[in-house]
Amino acid sequence: MNTYGLILAGGKGTRMNDDLPKVAQKILGKEFVNYVYDALKHAGIENVYPIVGYKREIVLSCMNNPVHFVQEEQLGTGHAVQMAYEELHDKDGICFVIAGDQPLITSESIKEVIKVHKENKNQLTLLTAVSPNPYGYGRIVRNGSEVLKIVEEKDASDEEKLINEVNISTFCFDNKLLFKYIKEIRNENAQKELYLTDILEIFKTEGLKVEAVKALTYEETIGISDKVDLAKATGFLKDKINNKHMRNGVTIVDPNNTYIGPDVEVGKGTIIYPGCVFEGNVSIGESCTVQSSCIFDSSIGDNVTVGPFAHIRQNSELGNNIRIGNFVEIKKSKLSDGVKSAHLTYLGDSEIHEGVNIGCGTITVNYDGKNKHKTVIEKGAFIGSNANLIAPITIGENSKVAAGSTVTDDVPNDSLAIARERQTNKKDYYKK
Ligand code: UD1
Repeated sequence: MNTYGLILAGGKGTRMNDDLPKVAQKILGKEFVNYVYDALKHAGIENVYPIVGYKREIVLSCMNNPVHFVQEEQLGTGHAVQMAYEELHDKDGICFVIAGDQPLITSESIKEVIKVHKENKNQLTLLTAVSPNPYGYGRIVRNGSEVLKIVEEKDASDEEKLINEVNISTFCFDNKLLFKYIKEIRNENAQKELYLTDILEIFKTEGLKVEAVKALTYEETIGISDKVDLAKATGFLKDKINNKHMRNGVTIVDPNNTYIGPDVEVGKGTIIYPGCVFEGNVSIGESCTVQSSCIFDSSIGDNVTVGPFAHIRQNSELGNNIRIGNFVEIKKSKLSDGVKSAHLTYLGDSEIHEGVNIGCGTITVNYDGKNKHKTVIEKGAFIGSNANLIAPITIGENSKVAAGSTVTDDVPNDSLAIARERQTNKKDYYKK
């Protein structure tokens, strides 16, 4: 069966009070829209398309420019879905429509909705939440177990406003029927918008089978309207992620002060001290110790110690048994097993081979103001303290760079490079 996913990602998110479009905002380093995209993909939906509008270049660039639909003017959630009509209206299969501003939704819930949809031969199955504070949401109006319609806050009667089962904009449709009826919705409502939610009543009138399934946990249904919601969602997700790692055998000394993104892997026996931030595609091996450090989009092997106050970023790859000490920054570099860089160092665009020792204060001088250049330090080399290695440069196997050197030329194997002024002592200089 064909499976399509449409992510409603065109709105501005006025209540976020921020110029960045709402769906491009991040939780633990990952954009809302990418959480939703990944949840749909992990649930097995093959073709997932965002429908973008407000500042779409920002939204698309944070998603690596996927195939998408454009809603030039934001005339409502139903109008957004109409943008996919030409491409999708004649396709068999199911279409999952979901708001891009509910990053906590899980692939398990999406799978469950699809399962119910198929098993019960529904034409529309939607996920709902029972909310402690339903204000602002569309309310699910039922007659017993039968769902009748969704009524928006601004159109609801006083009685309807008391309903606490809400629409969380998570729908599984028969694809052809969605597009058959999406053009029939009208903007005859308080906001003069084309409401996607009105399609439910149309389906009912046409005698189609509609079922509303309540989500298992309230937390994953949280939609994010403003920065207060954002902080709450971050706290919830942070706890969920940290608990998962702790159950897998990772020691997190203070989970309240440890921020681990959803796509981070950590091996068992690793100890994480307070003040760590790991975001993006990060993998940390077993039996490592990380103290008060930031690691972004990088991998680290087993038995590595990092920090305090180290910064490892941009596709760096660290092998096993490595020591990265305080105030060391590593950018887009590859460090082989056994490398030591214990203090105050910048290693950028570099390749550092097995067993190399990097002295305190070493800088790989990688940028000439226009281009970035590579530093290679071969097996067993020893870089003395406070050395500048002006890239492009290679320091040969088992060679040494004298402390305080500024090295501009390659150093052959088994050599000592000294590139500094010889000391002169001026005897009795001050007495004279
Ligand atoms: C919508 C639902 C409401 C539900 C609530 C939370 C409708 C009519 N109402 O409310 O029942 O309780 O979401 O799930 O659907 N968007 C577009 N284009 C538009 C308008 C919105 O892409 O023209 C996107 C937004 O970027 C956002 C999502 O749709 O990701 C929801 O929009 P939002 O304005 O937050 O929700 P409401 O319309 O208030």
